[in-house]
Amino acid sequence: MTQRITIRKPDDWHLHVRDNEMLRACLPFTARAFGRAICMPNLLPPVRTTADGVAYRARVLAALPPGSTFLPLITCYLTDDTDPDDVERGFRDGVFTGVKLYPANATTNSAAGVTDYRKIEPVLARMEKIGMRFLIHGEEVDPAIDVFDREAVFIERRLIPFTKMFPGLKVILEHLSSKAGVDYVRSAAPQVGGTITPYHIRHNRTDWLGWGNKPYFYCMPVIKTESDRLALRAAATSGEACFFLGTDSAPHPVAKKLATTGAAGLFNAPVAIETYAQVFDEDGKLGNLEAFASLNGPRHYGLPPNEETITLERVAWTAPEEMKVDGPDERALIYRGGETIPWRVLA
Ligand code: NCD
Ligand code: ZN
Repeated sequence: MTQRITIRKPDDWHLHVRDNEMLRACLPFTARAFGRAICMPNLLPPVRTTADGVAYRARVLAALPPGSTFLPLITCYLTDDTDPDDVERGFRDGVFTGVKLYPANATTNSAAGVTDYRKIEPVLARMEKIGMRFLIHGEEVDPAIDVFDREAVFIERRLIPFTKMFPGLKVILEHLSSKAGVDYVRSAAPQVGGTITPYHIRHNRTDWLGWGNKPYFYCMPVIKTESDRLALRAAATSGEACFFLGTDSAPHPVAKKLATTGAAGLFNAPVAIETYAQVFDEDGKLGNLEAFASLNGPRHYGLPPNEETITLERVAWTAPEEMKVDGPDERALIYRGGETIPWRVLA
């Protein structure tokens, strides 16, 4: 039985580190294990312009523990009015790594997202020209579409046409949640890659709703069926180049998670790389962890992999239940809090 594994330092290709007190509280959990992370722009107000990106990157860097070499990769929140010239400036100046599409009202802080897909075509044409990545929350929010079908319908209705219209545009379909999503990414690679979260490979909707409503399993896209979970798990652990790590770690204050209309998002950064290691180990695929966590993502983004390494060891520990947050937010509950985690990162 493998007791230790050393891999190139992983990156998190889909992460929410928020702002202010929440940023200061949650960022160290990612910086301890990851070299870089794509920091999502769905703040209030969102990171919409190069100037917003410069300011947000400075706030993230200021929240890092002293001596940390972690690098935040900032993204631009796409709206109906995004200016292609500003996007290009942000990319060329190294401020923006990519542009993020939230369909309006698909998820947390997406109200300012895209409502008219024709209006974003000039931005996409520019991104195709300059080699900038297009990051997508791939859900169709038409009220006629069942929430469990949002991903599959988005792929048919929006993504396939976009990839045909802009064949040179490199796309990331984020937090894949369905077998349809897995099959599509595989068929559209290498133009399209997909990130996979720890919770979509560990849980199905029966875990979430079958024995009482567990609000802490609520995230967007929602956790789906067992056959979806198995397809996602096989894709992640396969090591195939089109699938890579994106935790979607997304802390919310407890009161917002448990409100009558609860916030979507799970905070998993404190157990993220350990949970992936456990899954790969359970499936006899530890040998593919480095490809998924540290190599496939950089290759899809056209970036070099990290030079540093981390070592994971088979030593059980108990995950903390919650993270304290200064100020009015007070605390956020942690995914798997109180559970025994069989792998840990060697300090
Ligand atoms: C994310 C958040 O809380 O910002 N929530 C979620 O359910 N995943 C937003 C997102 O990535 O959809
Ligand atoms: Zn999302």
